[in-house]
Order: sequence, then C-alpha cells, then structure tokens
Amino acid sequence: KKRVVSGVQPTGAIHLGNYLGAIKNWVWLQDTYETLFFIVDLHAITLSYDAQQLSTTTRNTAAIYIACGIDPSKASIFVQSHVHAHVELMWLLSSITPLGWLNRMIQFKEKSRKAGDENVGAALLTYPVLMASDILLYQCDLVPVGEDQKQHLELTRELAERVNYLFGGKKWKKMGGRGGRIFKMPEALIPPAGARVMSLTDGLSKMSKSAPSDQSRINLLDTRDMIANKIKRCKTDSFSGLEFDNPERPECNNLLSVYQLVTGRSKEEVALECQNMTWGTFKTKLTDALIDHLQPIQARYEDIISDSAYLDNVLAEGATKAASIADATLHNVYQAMGFLRP
Ligand code: AQP
Repeated sequence: KKRVVSGVQPTGAIHLGNYLGAIKNWVWLQDTYETLFFIVDLHAITLSYDAQQLSTTTRNTAAIYIACGIDPSKASIFVQSHVHAHVELMWLLSSITPLGWLNRMIQFKEKSRKAGDENVGAALLTYPVLMASDILLYQCDLVPVGEDQKQHLELTRELAERVNYLFGGKKWKKMGGRGGRIFKMPEALIPPAGARVMSLTDGLSKMSKSAPSDQSRINLLDTRDMIANKIKRCKTDSFSGLEFDNPERPECNNLLSVYQLVTGRSKEEVALECQNMTWGTFKTKLTDALIDHLQPIQARYEDIISDSAYLDNVLAEGATKAASIADATLHNVYQAMGFLRP
C-alpha cells in the first residue's frame, strides 16, 4: 500500500477549514492507503504561543481526529514531539539546506511581515526543514497539501534529491546501504476542489485559527447558538439570488460551497436549490446543515476526551508504530552521512 502522512498544528481550535480541507479527506484516505496522522506540536511553537495551553490543545486535536472518523485501527495517530526522530533528522537536513532556499519561502515572508521582526524566531525560517523531516522520515508516497504548502513540499523534494545525491551514491552502498536512494520522493496529493474554506467575515481570506476574530470561523466544537450567531452575522452581499463562481461574490461562493460540503450534495443540486433564495432563508438552512453535520462529531468528541486512558493508549500505540518507521530512516541517514553509530 502507498503511504500517506499529514497533520494539523495544535495552535487553537480546529475549524471548519481544517476539517473540510484536511481531516475529512483523511477519512477516505485511511481506507485506501497506509496512513499516519499526527498532531504537529513542534510546528505550533514557531510563532508566539501559549505554553499553558499547548498540551491541552494537542490532546483535543487528537480527540477531534478520532471524532471526525480517523480510526486508530486503520491509521496511526500520534503527537509529533513523541517521535524524537523528527527533530534529529531536521538538524541533519539543516546542514545541507542552503539559506537562500529558506529565504525565498513565501509563507516565511508573509508570516514574518505580519509578526514583526522582533517576534520572528529562527524556527519560523527553518520550519520547512522540519516539515521536510516529517515527510521524509516516513518514506511516504503522497502528501495531501493545500495551495499554501505546495512550495514547502517542493523544498522537501529538493532536499530529498540533495541528500540522495550527496550521500546516497557508491560510498553509501559500500557502507551497507541498500542502494542509491535514502529518501523516497514524495508526491503531492491535491485535495478535491472547493475544499478551501474562506473566512466568514471576508470571502477573500482563508478561514484560519490565528485570525483575531472568532466570528471569522466556525470551530468544530462551537455550540448551536454560536454557529447560529456566526452565520447570522457573517458577511454577505446585496445581489439577488445565490450563485457559485461569481468573482464579485466571494462570500456567496464560499457559503454555498460549505453548504454543499456539509450536506454532501452536488454543486448542481445546490446551485438549483439556492438560485432564487434570499440570504435569510439560506442562512437558516446553512445553520441547520452545519449543526446536523457537527453534532455527531461533537458527541463522539465528548466521549473520547472524557476517556483519557483510551486517548493515551491510541497516542502511545501511534507513536510506537511511527517511531519504528522513523528510526529506521534516521539510522540510514546517520550512516550515510558518515556518523559513528552506537
Ligand atoms: N481555510 C482552510 N480551508 C481549507 N483547508 C484549510 N487548512 C487550514 N485552513 C484551511 C488545512 O488544514 C490543515 C492544517 O493546517 P495547519 O494547522 O497546519 O495550519 P494552517 O494551514 O496555517 O491552518 P490555520 O488554521 O490557518 O492555522 P494558523 O492560523 O495557525 O496558521 C492543512 O492541510 C491546511 O491546508
């Protein structure tokens, strides 16, 4: 089976964008591929964060994975920092990563501009090297990536090629390596169209955990009242009727897409149903559809989060399985790079 890895950062409440754009797709991936899904806690500290909340949000994120349908008997679910190889491989990869490659990363430029120079730590710059380590450690075939992560996956591929070239040649073979390839070359798995969820207060920016206003997103654990209130107050427009794909109506396109995704209907059906609707009627329907979709997830979440022995066990088993793959890769890299092994 082909192998897939992916993760979400525990930087705050998981929202509809993380769910529709990532976690919901993992549910079908786990039936087709060998899957490893992790909670990316080491990445969550690249910008200023709340140390008192990190362990709680990490646990909550793991519980959300399971509540959304990730099945620990099919997929390995683990916490990134529980597998030591991630940080170790990152250091090794850092030694062959040209600074220029990191400086040209668009996300670094954007995030550092937003954070202001005095708040930018070295980890924000080296973040893509840790991401490369996350992927290459597992010799995975496919990585689900959104538009904003494509450049980082490209860097991962360049690093894999560089390590294979520099250390995977004849010298490595003589030392007992299996041949010219230390890392498998990962490919992007592009999520289905329409999975980019936009902010409720601005149809041109993506829904995000770190956006200052909670009104801009639907969190998976929002109560009925919160969902109703956010949809009631979300940004709309003054056109009549509702339609997909009108560039002058980004909010309309976004809300219809969300409605389509949570009801599981086709775009054509939704377009037909909503073409003559008023915003008032549509907002009631969207609110009901969101509550119907999220309510079972929330009920499962409550069961999981209250059973800490179960959750600890899932994470421990996931980490053991992940470490068995990751440690083997790390060992090969150390050997290929000429280290004396114990
Ligand atoms: N709005 C979105 N629409 C679709 N997919 C989204 N993802 C995030 N936002 C949307 C996808 O969720 C996965 C995990 O994201 P992440 O936690 O690694 O970080 P992110 O992409 O930066 O997500 P956020 O929520 O915006 O977090 P902050 O605000 O902390 O940066 C990824 O697969 C991502 O594509």
